[in-house]
Amino acid sequence: MDNQELIRLALEARKASYSPYSKYKVGAALLTKSGKVYQGCNIENAAYTPTNCAERTAYFKAVSEGEREFEAIAIAGGYGDVPVDYAWPCGVCRQVMMEFCGADFRIITAKSETEYQEATLEEMLPCGFGPNNL
Ligand code: THU
Repeated sequence: MDNQELIRLALEARKASYSPYSKYKVGAALLTKSGKVYQGCNIENAAYTPTNCAERTAYFKAVSEGEREFEAIAIAGGYGDVPVDYAWPCGVCRQVMMEFCGADFRIITAKSETEYQEATLEEMLPCGFGPNNL
């Protein structure tokens, strides 16, 4: 699957964002090494702290279905109908990625199918702590 298709699926997932408090809508599409895609959106809560990010929604859906090996994730976040800035994953989501993904895992953040930036997990979380440290 190419980056453009994965971004399209992240933008599609963003439409389901439940974000009545921040109004900041995030969608993610997580690609497994076997080629399957799990979509996720951010899910906010009136008590605020139970809020779940789009990326973790996608991971938890995938892991709970037995997936363990991942290739890339596309993320699209922002206010309004179309993201105007690049949304990079928060620190907690980077740590969840660290649990299941290698240094070369690709993180794509997109404003549209053709405007995006890409980095590896190693670049996003240098010197991270993961399963190999235990
Ligand atoms: N959010 C995500 O979904 N992913 C991130 O990586 C950063 C933040 C969500 C959480 C909250 O619903 C909203 O964006 C504002 O922080």
